[in-house]
Amino acid sequence: MVETTISVIKADIGSLAGHVIVPDFIMEFARKKMKEGVEKKIINDFYVTHAGDDLELIMTHFKGENNEEVHKLAFDTFMEGTKIAREKKIYAAGQDILSDTFSGNVKGMGPGSAEMTFEERKSEPIVVFMADKTEPGAYNLPMFRIYADPFCTAGLVIDPNLHDGFIFVIQDILKEIPCYLEMSCPEEMYDLLALIGSTGRYVIKKVYRKDGMITGVVSTDKLHKIAGKYIGKDDPVAIVRAHSGLPAMGEVLEAFTIPHMVSGWMRGSHAGPLLPVALKDSKCTRFDGPPRVIALGFQVSNGMLVGPVDLFDDVAFDITRQKGLEAMEYMRRHGPFMPHRLHTEDMEYTTLPLVLEKCANRFIEGEIDIAKKIKDTSESAE
Ligand code: 13P
Ligand code: 13P
Ligand code: MG
Ligand code: MG
Repeated sequence: MVETTISVIKADIGSLAGHVIVPDFIMEFARKKMKEGVEKKIINDFYVTHAGDDLELIMTHFKGENNEEVHKLAFDTFMEGTKIAREKKIYAAGQDILSDTFSGNVKGMGPGSAEMTFEERKSEPIVVFMADKTEPGAYNLPMFRIYADPFCTAGLVIDPNLHDGFIFVIQDILKEIPCYLEMSCPEEMYDLLALIGSTGRYVIKKVYRKDGMITGVVSTDKLHKIAGKYIGKDDPVAIVRAHSGLPAMGEVLEAFTIPHMVSGWMRGSHAGPLLPVALKDSKCTRFDGPPRVIALGFQVSNGMLVGPVDLFDDVAFDITRQKGLEAMEYMRRHGPFMPHRLHTEDMEYTTLPLVLEKCANRFIEGEIDIAKKIKDTSESAE
């Protein structure tokens, strides 16, 4: 039985009037490149969209993960798209392209990727989540809720196919050489939470059903680890399969209703609520945010994509968005103060150390008495 691979490969190669939206002509160009990919039989099918300023290539094929031809098709699309963006002087053209020589795979070159390979079921509903102005750990909380929280996923309690739970693969994304750990839920739930609460370090990479069926995957590429400095956030994507022995689509989407706090937003340096939004609202403006996520649902059918349906385009998420907007307003009032501004260690790769450097050598040991200093100065002037 031939297995289908879904490859979602994304990059910010330039955006309109700031970090807001991918220009239409870049989207059109990407569609043209994807069509050529179909004609050359590199991929079977595709859907091109954008999460704010990130260009998203959703591709299907029978070539498996990390396939050189598929990755090169995406990489060439980003490289040539960057050239067009530069010609038009689009803002931050080529932002996520950190190397211009392709070496078999987009990993470590700037773009983010999530890929999943499976034997198609009788019916194969999937959702692709695409976020802007945040980082891979933003999916930790919803992924946990989908696969381990019975207050989100009713099927964990009432469906015998889900009742045994799921296996989470966690990645330590601060390690140069990728390091992974597996944890079984519900048995190891508290240990799992002890790790994944640290969203900047321990990230859910994959989720499997106990019988080995792959059900969820997240892109974990870290831009600043590759670039050595801040150039933009990692703006992660995730692929989740739903139904027939897995959490239902409604249970998967329910996980995004808090709306929880994530890192990113302005200059990648602020915490804010992750808003689930329709495609029409997939653009970050206020303080370059707040962070947001779109969800496109597809049926995968004999290696092709049927759809999409814009899953967060539903009034039922208005209450989540309203709560998120109130949280946004509250967080913004903190201005440059933590916890709105991120913790010092998260600021290490931003431009803040350049500012702090100037202050560092002005610290002296012992107390400072300004009144005495002024008095001494005026006395010596007399
Ligand atoms: P992106 O990561 O979406 O490019 O945003 C960068 C940024 O600094 C926004 O303030
Ligand atoms: P500029 O230096 O272009 O203003 O960029 C700021 C920014 O958006 C950081 O990501
Ligand atoms: Mg950008
Ligand atoms: Mg972005």
